[in-house]
Amino acid sequence: MASIDYESKIPNNVDLASDKRLQRALEKWQPEYLDWWHQMGPTDYEANDIYLRTAISVEADGWAHFGYVKMPDYRWGIFLEPQQKGRVVPCGDHYGEEAWQEVPGEFRTELRRIIVTQADTEPASVEQQRLLGHTAPSLYDLRNLFQVNVEEGRHLWAMVYLLQRYFGKDGRREAEELLERRSGNPDRPRILGTFNEPITTWLDFFMFTMFTDRDGKFQLLALAESGFDPLARTCRFMLTEEAHHMFVGQTGVGRVIKRTCEVMQEYPDACPSEHGAIPLPLIQKYINFWVSSSTDLYGSEISSNAANYFAAGLKGRAYEEKKYTEHKAMDGSYVIEKLEGDRLVKEEVPLRNAMNEVLRTEYLEDNQKGIDYWNRITAKHNIDFNFCLPNRRFHRNIGLYTGLHFDVEGNPMSKEDYEARVHEWLPNDEDRKFVTSLMVAVKEAGQFAGWIAPPAKGLNGQPVDFEYVKL
Ligand SMILES: [Fe+2]
Ligand SMILES: [Fe+2]
Repeated sequence: MASIDYESKIPNNVDLASDKRLQRALEKWQPEYLDWWHQMGPTDYEANDIYLRTAISVEADGWAHFGYVKMPDYRWGIFLEPQQKGRVVPCGDHYGEEAWQEVPGEFRTELRRIIVTQADTEPASVEQQRLLGHTAPSLYDLRNLFQVNVEEGRHLWAMVYLLQRYFGKDGRREAEELLERRSGNPDRPRILGTFNEPITTWLDFFMFTMFTDRDGKFQLLALAESGFDPLARTCRFMLTEEAHHMFVGQTGVGRVIKRTCEVMQEYPDACPSEHGAIPLPLIQKYINFWVSSSTDLYGSEISSNAANYFAAGLKGRAYEEKKYTEHKAMDGSYVIEKLEGDRLVKEEVPLRNAMNEVLRTEYLEDNQKGIDYWNRITAKHNIDFNFCLPNRRFHRNIGLYTGLHFDVEGNPMSKEDYEARVHEWLPNDEDRKFVTSLMVAVKEAGQFAGWIAPPAKGLNGQPVDFEYVKL
């Protein structure tokens, strides 16, 4: 395994110097990437020193170096986990055959599509979050935002390496287009819906890193089980970075809840909004919105594409090798609930066709752990309020439940009833206006906006009042 080469223009552990053609192609893409970063990355903080971590190895312990960096100088690079000797295709029809080190010709189109779809989410989230720096509730949070942003940029690098290294001219064209699409742009939007949703407040940001980055985790877990070995190795290292993004989300929302609980204890007879905190039912509405939007990202419940990807060994289930004993999934079935008339009926579908639903279920179970964590915060403050996940059928725009109406518990209802009650479940304009009104920048080290509690501890052993961003 090559160690990380930081001497060359593009840091990497793939011995880029030995492939001049590829090196030239990536070095040509590099300034275009930087142009995109200047245009679409975080606004206004390019000249500031930020306390960021940079990958310096792919070993599980001690892979990151922390230090002050200006964002445009961040060393975006290409890091793959080491190749495992004798690794086999972990699932599907080719189960047990030697894993592919080059793209199998027959799966070229599908594989390219999978990689481009993943790649597109990375710059999209940077674009969605680009204005948040102006209203950061603390320097600690500002730094976390930028850490997430630079790492999403690195994830783009990870995917672009695969495109340019393994897909020739097509891959180079895709790499260009990844810098041309824009989140929320009506003419050239990003590929997936959630990645075109505006992230205008920090509450949205924390929800996004909690629930949408977690979708990223599960997509990466599935791709980490790909028979195309370079993709699997790339995704394994991305997962290491991704964990921090979800930490930012889970603890971020947790700190908002904590602050509200404190205000509720101090002013038991008032609405917390009167004292600048976000009411718990309003936080629940944001949960409902971002969970349902992110739940769509798994695609249709019954999907021949998903079946093909699995059969081909391009995408496995999360933890395919560790968790399952049978890896072909030829005979199994999966129960899906369909609406017939006004009632739900169970239908068994062939397991391979239900792979999207299998992944979605794992994702929702993982979300539940975050919800439990938040409920421990309210319990600790003796506040009788339980957060919950909306049912998977609620507010869906992709798959079986599109165009149908369900309450947050998943009970079918008429369009009229739904429209009369949806304001109880999703943030309305007034809710969003209120949350937006709380967003004011706090720029002194160790100070926090009134709607969010400080974290339990600082980062990388630093104190909470450390100067995470030098303004
Ligand atoms: Fe990412
Ligand atoms: Fe992420």
